[in-house]
Amino acid sequence: MREKTKVIFTFVITMLEEIEKIEKETASHNFADAAALEQFRLTYLSSKGRIQVLMDAFKNLPNEEKKAISIPLNALKSRLEEVFRVYKKKFSTTTSSDQTYDTTLPVNTLQFGSSHPVKIVENALCDIFYSLGFDMADGPEIEDDRHNFGALNFADDHPARDMQDTFFIGEYILRTHTSSVQIREMEKRKPPIRLVMPGRVYRNEAISTRSNCFFHQIEGLYIDKDVSFADLKQTLYYFVQQFFGEGTQIRLRSSYFPFTEPSAEMDIWAGIETEENRRLTKGTGWLEVLGCGMVNPNVLRACNIDPEVYQGYAFGMGIDRIAMLKYSISDIRDLFHNDIRLLSQFRGL
Ligand code: PHE
Repeated sequence: MREKTKVIFTFVITMLEEIEKIEKETASHNFADAAALEQFRLTYLSSKGRIQVLMDAFKNLPNEEKKAISIPLNALKSRLEEVFRVYKKKFSTTTSSDQTYDTTLPVNTLQFGSSHPVKIVENALCDIFYSLGFDMADGPEIEDDRHNFGALNFADDHPARDMQDTFFIGEYILRTHTSSVQIREMEKRKPPIRLVMPGRVYRNEAISTRSNCFFHQIEGLYIDKDVSFADLKQTLYYFVQQFFGEGTQIRLRSSYFPFTEPSAEMDIWAGIETEENRRLTKGTGWLEVLGCGMVNPNVLRACNIDPEVYQGYAFGMGIDRIAMLKYSISDIRDLFHNDIRLLSQFRGL
């Protein structure tokens, strides 16, 4: 009995010494970083730490001896836990490694954009002409009278200059067609010139399901020696076969543009089998696709190209209506509401 008491006594003394030792070691603390704090937790507060060793030993003490130990041990434990809590808070505001995340929140999946249907069609049209050796050019949407009208052989009193068709910005205008880019390029380059020129154009027209105050065109221009109307026709025929499918019929109706002579409009045969085709073609089966012609010598002269040496052809087509046709969009305005429900259908195209 005596022996046992003695053993317990020494044991209590050892525990008190250990408590005192820890007290001394931890009296001052200055943790450089979260890693140093973690080292502190492992040494003293973890399930295998020195406080837990004391706690385990404490549980096995007889009740009388517990009294001697419990106050200093619990005080030490609380103090160390408090130190740990304060520093943990300090480090968690400067590092994110201790942050907790709500893993039950729904994932915010990345929303990929899509090309606009008008752009998809524009690219497809341009690609066909690239394959024939045409390059691309573009020009400004705000134009002067010379590039949009004057150099294109519009007479001063031509009705297209009328306020009803053209938006004016002071002495400038919003281009009414991409033919203005023909002029800019012919001023800059020497023949042979072979270009497609896509872009946005503006017209002061009543807005409806089929007409908007702005839309998109692709202009084509080929200037070289010995260019004939047959070259124009063959190029357009090839283009139609590529874009609308092998066997698509075309027809050229004579027409008038100040900047081409002779001029024509080209229709493709859409057929009258379906209600939709009858509506689109106004019952004729023919769908108007573009205007074209041989570049008027006056236009060449305005750009310092000698019409005795060079000839060429030009054509211009609307992109929006082709996009509407291709994707069965019945109102042109739907193309420009930026409605994600429409646009997202073109992902990956
Ligand atoms: N610029 C004409 C239009 O907007 C189209 C066209 C271009 C016609 C080139 C002939 C040659 O209607």
